Amino acid sequence: MEGPRLETARLLLRPPREEDLAGWTELMGDEAAARFIGGVQTPLGAWRGLATVAGSWALHGFGMFSVIERETGRWIGRVGPWRPHGWPGPEIGWALIRAAWGQGHAEEAARAAIAWSFGTLGWTKVIHVIRAENLPSKALAARLGSTFRTLGSLPAPHEGEYEIWGQSRR
Ligand SMILES: CC(C)(COP(=O)(O)OP(=O)(O)OC[C@H]1O[C@@H](n2cnc3c(N)ncnc32)[C@H](O)[C@@H]1OP(=O)(O)O)[C@@H](O)C(=O)NCCC(=O)NCCS
Repeated sequence: MEGPRLETARLLLRPPREEDLAGWTELMGDEAAARFIGGVQTPLGAWRGLATVAGSWALHGFGMFSVIERETGRWIGRVGPWRPHGWPGPEIGWALIRAAWGQGHAEEAARAAIAWSFGTLGWTKVIHVIRAENLPSKALAARLGSTFRTLGSLPAPHEGEYEIWGQSRR
């Protein structure tokens, strides 16, 4: 689907397309990147993940955006609104390929996605569901102005305890 295009200084955010599969497969095939987002997946598993996010756009009119580096046209990750069935709230999620870490890209993309979710979707709050050990993700949530709210869980098959971070539109 075409869907919205958000442009930031360095990035383009748009709904996922099949051409993103190579990047998606790289992300989900990397043990370090996949550790806190369900673990390493096969190329077919990565395709299912991409199709699920595309399906979220089709079903809900929103979903995580593919994040493209404007200068190179490279797919570097997925960031944005996400609310699967049974989720504890309206989430802004993020995951970038390892080569894109440490450059402020996740923060830049998440700021644009949060503004779009508040402004266009009309969300009044956002959450981020993060494993306690995922320090880079918690640091990012804090940079965005979110705070730790409570401990919680996700629907099966997700197991264990998660920290729920968040912020309200106000
Ligand atoms: C979570 C994740 C997106 C965070 O990535 P990140 O690179 O730490 O975050 P950002 O892209 O915002 O970059 C911030 C870093 O870039 C640095 N930086 C460099 N140039 C910058 C710039 N122009 N603007 C802002 N920051 C910049 C910052 O100083 C910071 O460095 P630090 O970590 O040493 O303090 C990344 O670790 C990831 O994709 N992990 C795997 C998937 C995952 O676990 N997702 C979360 C599930 S809850």
